[in-house]
Amino acid sequence: MTAEPLVYDPYDYSIDADPYPVFRRLRDEAPIYYNERYGFWALSRFRDVLEASVDHETFSSARGTVIELMDNPMPDPPMIFMDPPRHTRFRKLVSRTFTQRRIGSLEGRIRELVAGYLDPFVGSGGFDFVADFSAKLPVMVISSLLGVPEEDQDQLRHWTDQTLHRDPGETGPGPAALDAWKEIWAYWQGHIDARRRRPGSDVMSDLVRAELEQGDGTTRALTDAELHAFFGLLSAAGNETVARMLGWAALLLARNPAERARLVGNPALIRNGVEEILRYEAPSPLQGRWVTRDVEYYGTVVPKDSKLVLLTASANRDDREFEEPDRLDVTRRIERHVGLGFGIHFCLGAYLARLEGRVALEETLRRFPVWEVEEPGLEMIHTSTVRGYARVPIRF
Ligand code: HEM
Repeated sequence: MTAEPLVYDPYDYSIDADPYPVFRRLRDEAPIYYNERYGFWALSRFRDVLEASVDHETFSSARGTVIELMDNPMPDPPMIFMDPPRHTRFRKLVSRTFTQRRIGSLEGRIRELVAGYLDPFVGSGGFDFVADFSAKLPVMVISSLLGVPEEDQDQLRHWTDQTLHRDPGETGPGPAALDAWKEIWAYWQGHIDARRRRPGSDVMSDLVRAELEQGDGTTRALTDAELHAFFGLLSAAGNETVARMLGWAALLLARNPAERARLVGNPALIRNGVEEILRYEAPSPLQGRWVTRDVEYYGTVVPKDSKLVLLTASANRDDREFEEPDRLDVTRRIERHVGLGFGIHFCLGAYLARLEGRVALEETLRRFPVWEVEEPGLEMIHTSTVRGYARVPIRF
């Protein structure tokens, strides 16, 4: 018997549905892999992904981290598409605002939002865990974090939904999506202008007031374009990912009822359970990088100016790092994983993502300790950056 040729195609829906058999073959047979069709290299073993993540000089983010966008780098990129020293200055500035204390203070608001979404379904027999709940929550949370008044948050979520809307046949944003972007832009601009006139104590005010170091000893305020880029980055990085993480949680816990029962029996385990879910199904499974010098892996030279992807989802299932990696174990001792990245671009929203995950699961399991997923109704979303479900219908 000859093995099937080994092909990893990030755009192939059938691979995306369950990439783990391909990832295992990559790790075992081609730990440095080249995809000729799209012209990118891939690292799949935990150690390689981890080491490349911290070597930002060799593996640059400055041309973007989405492989299909790297040939045309953005002129005014968000922080996630920057290298030091520019990245360091931006990261320092926003880290001063995104403190654990400030994010931790959102717990009550997150719990109130979660209860508001879940309570109407008590006694209903079922709902769509993603469409009715997990896709809605993170937009509201980011708005609360930034300081958007509560009465505007539903409107902002509606516009954000519209930006993702695609009519049949549309592969990019259509008129409705573009109109929604304009509304969002104008909305943020109103807040930026108001805070420039009269700053308050919220995150938007802090960002408007913040001084960016210039590298020559001088500082300056962020421009409107930089503020918009940052708000856009928060939405892009913080909404889809959390929505998918919670969708995975609903599906994985239904498929692993004994693990779910452990969380119901001992809610203190939920924090670790969230970490295990992030390890097991990384909502952001690959991170693109631009290779800045010749670098050798397993006897093969990856030439300077190549595209390369760090397969974080594969790394998290590497049995060289994790025992029985394909088993979901909510009590697993996880010292490190790469589901939230690693190194200088480590997820800025990690604390918030974990908080949303914990509160959402605590409140879900308290109301619905047992559920089943109607698997024929599952609907996956396919993008080259986020992996998970748009629909997870549950019954209880
Ligand atoms: C489960 C949810 C989340 C996952 C799986 C996730 C995953 C990631 C990953 C893998 C990276 C590293 C990207 C790279 O190395 O190129 C990253 C960076 C980032 N994330 Fe998250 N993220 C999540 C939630 C959030 C939230 C809630 C926010 C917003 C508050 C956020 C904001 C960011 C930002 C701004 C960066 C860029 C950091 C930098 O360049 O220094 N993320 N995230």
